[in-house]
Amino acid sequence: MKIHVLGAAAGGGFPQWNCNCPNCDGVRTGRIQARPRTQSSIAASADDTHWALFNASPDILQQIREFPALQPGRGLRDTGIAAIVLIDAQIDHTTGLYMLREHTRRHPLWCTPQVREDLTRGNPILPLLEHYCGVDWHTLPLGDRFSIDTVPGLRFEALPLLSNAPPYSPHRDRPEPGDNIGVTLIDAASTRRVFYAPGLGRMEASVWAAMQAADVVLVDGTLWTDDEMIRLGASQKTSRAMGHLPQSGPDGMIEWLDKLPATTRKILIHINNTNPILDEASPQHAELARHGIEVAYDGMSIVV
Ligand code: MLT
Ligand code: MN
Ligand code: ZN
Repeated sequence: MKIHVLGAAAGGGFPQWNCNCPNCDGVRTGRIQARPRTQSSIAASADDTHWALFNASPDILQQIREFPALQPGRGLRDTGIAAIVLIDAQIDHTTGLYMLREHTRRHPLWCTPQVREDLTRGNPILPLLEHYCGVDWHTLPLGDRFSIDTVPGLRFEALPLLSNAPPYSPHRDRPEPGDNIGVTLIDAASTRRVFYAPGLGRMEASVWAAMQAADVVLVDGTLWTDDEMIRLGASQKTSRAMGHLPQSGPDGMIEWLDKLPATTRKILIHINNTNPILDEASPQHAELARHGIEVAYDGMSIVV
């Protein structure tokens, strides 16, 4: 299977339009060694033709322009996006649905009932899309293996995990199973597995088991320290309160990734613009390299 990273940044992107943190200012002025990144999305395919889009980023039009496989040009109106899977209902993962409204059919959309509810009430993208192409909603099953008929050669296993629900959700700060998920993508022919979880706030046993079973983990790289946003004066919330395990410190992502076999490919994704790992000359970036951990970037292709 092939995973194409469409956008490796967290909500806001990098640089964020209104941000003058050392990273955003640094990448704008060229003072730091870093690449801009768009907001959180990946595409996956087993045949290079039928792609499952994981999350629909506000930056999707730019992402499609930069990844020709998503515009195969077989007809006047065409797309390589054969299905859309949402891992939560956050702005950075759903706003791109508006940009896909010109589709000539209903989009096959896979998400949990909780995510569908948030996209029907708090942020009513789905009813609005009924004025355009609309979506065919498929209940994303938790726990059981499933396939998506429009995406041949791949199988999926989703599990609920603890992160956070969006501010417009009735479950904000009290997330329920189904508000956030992690997904294992399985190549049906080779049985090789990728575990994808861009929002992961707590390492539960089921999540850890999925990570141990994977050949590649593509996991939450939002913030380096738990109080990163507080110290910058950008937020009152810790990383964990926002539903993101920080990389450094006890029970941080690095500590967990260190426990995986050396043969597991370890990649951080959904990186917030304040995170020092974006600066490729930073000590934090070097520390990740010492632990064999990669940092996803837009356009990264992962062949599994
Ligand atoms: C998050 O995952 O916490 C989001 O990126 C927040 C947002 O999109 O504003
Ligand atoms: Mn996010
Ligand atoms: Zn910034």
